[in-house]
Amino acid sequence: MVGCQWGDEGKGKIVDYLASQADYVARFQGGSNAGHTINVGHETYKLRLLPSGVLHRKKLVIANGVVVDPSVLIQEIADLTNHGYTPDLALSDRAHVTMSYHQLLDAAEEKFKGALRSGTTMRGIGPTYSDKMARYGIRVSDLLDTEILKQKMTQNATLKQKTLGSVYGSDSKLDEAQLLGAYLKSGEELRKYVTDTSVVLNDALDNGRRVLFEGAQGLMLDVDHGLYPFGTSSNTVAGAVCTGAGIGPKKINEVLGVVKAYTSRVGAGPVPTELTDEVGSKLQEKGQEFGTVTGRRRRCGWIDAVTLRLASRVNSPTGIALTKVDTLAGFDPVRICVQYDVDGRTVTEQPAGLREYSKCKPVYEEMEGWPDLSTTEWGAIAKKGYDALPLQARRYVERIEQIMKTPVRLISVGQGRDATVYRSQVWPN
Ligand code: GDP
Ligand code: IMO
Ligand code: MG
Repeated sequence: MVGCQWGDEGKGKIVDYLASQADYVARFQGGSNAGHTINVGHETYKLRLLPSGVLHRKKLVIANGVVVDPSVLIQEIADLTNHGYTPDLALSDRAHVTMSYHQLLDAAEEKFKGALRSGTTMRGIGPTYSDKMARYGIRVSDLLDTEILKQKMTQNATLKQKTLGSVYGSDSKLDEAQLLGAYLKSGEELRKYVTDTSVVLNDALDNGRRVLFEGAQGLMLDVDHGLYPFGTSSNTVAGAVCTGAGIGPKKINEVLGVVKAYTSRVGAGPVPTELTDEVGSKLQEKGQEFGTVTGRRRRCGWIDAVTLRLASRVNSPTGIALTKVDTLAGFDPVRICVQYDVDGRTVTEQPAGLREYSKCKPVYEEMEGWPDLSTTEWGAIAKKGYDALPLQARRYVERIEQIMKTPVRLISVGQGRDATVYRSQVWPN
């Protein structure tokens, strides 16, 4: 399951919905930049590292492609345990560790980048992935080995101190001994979860178990296929499951793309369909679009078919989950951006160049909107099934299917588990 737009498509809700039928739920990329919301009854859970299968007490896997901030993970485990959901977790020994200096670097880099900053979540994600690729990184297995951690910590503390001070002019002081002590301690706390998760996942798949891989972020934030450099530092597309979890491509049998009925974006950089008028504010308010991790107001606009076609091309989804159809209700007409106009030229594929992308003006088609209904009414529709949806909403669903050349299998019409219209099977037989 992957996000097909700018993140925050409602992945947490959809994973929670599907997890009842899963045996394992695994994260394979991203880190605590993710904020996946699940609403159960009157409780709201916001997950940043633990997979969203935790409320169904499924086996949880944080695989090698994830970057793990131990303090966030330890806190999240404690919080869920306090709520009666003790996580049954396997944590990859190969996952990279987000250190406190990565967060300092994240802030310093953002400041330095100025207009080219992406408005990060400040969780140290970019610097952790940079260190991984430059082979400076500290992996979870290193937290369990005092000698190796000490060696790596000395190297890193020296380098990061120089970078922070001499390059970025920061006056932060790194205390190597304190860092070593703190991370060895978190290693001890996490030791019981640490394992080779590629072995765990392949054994599970070979034994016919159902594994749901939970993507974080979304297509437009992908470091290759998204809007560079305004996205995140990992691949967020379906293919990342293979590298991020250590399973072969033949083992993936379904790919579910999550699409929100409109666009939301938290962070910096151009968004062609952003609405800065009252329609945009109404979407933001009605959709309660605030960043889960940062609390920032999300920028909102109409759905963008150029993005959706790209999502289809690079993810090859076998199904779509369309969310927030209840939020888009009451807007009439609703608009779909079908292509861009760049200085009078028609552009149908996402340009790579920033100059061209910034000039993209959306070209819209209009569709009739559907009536705004109460939570109870949407709940009743979800019980009855697809044919109970307002006709105009069904037309919108079918237009998204046409654009993405993929069936919409689930339609979400509210935050709760029950507010989900089940249209066709997602899990393979
Ligand atoms: P994620 O990062 O993709 O998991 O999405 P977030 O949790 O950051 O943001 C999605 C928000 O929309 C959360 O507050 C969800 O509870 C909420 N949500 C998800 N699906 C629906 C839906 O169909 N209708 C409404 N009204 N809210 C939804
Ligand atoms: P979920 O999983 C929405 C955005 C940030 C910023 C850019 C880089 O909840 O959908 P980073 O901290 O990753 O270096 O930030 O990516 N971003 C997200 N936006 N949802 C997310 O995750 C995001 N994770 C990162 O706002 O523009
Ligand atoms: Mg989110």
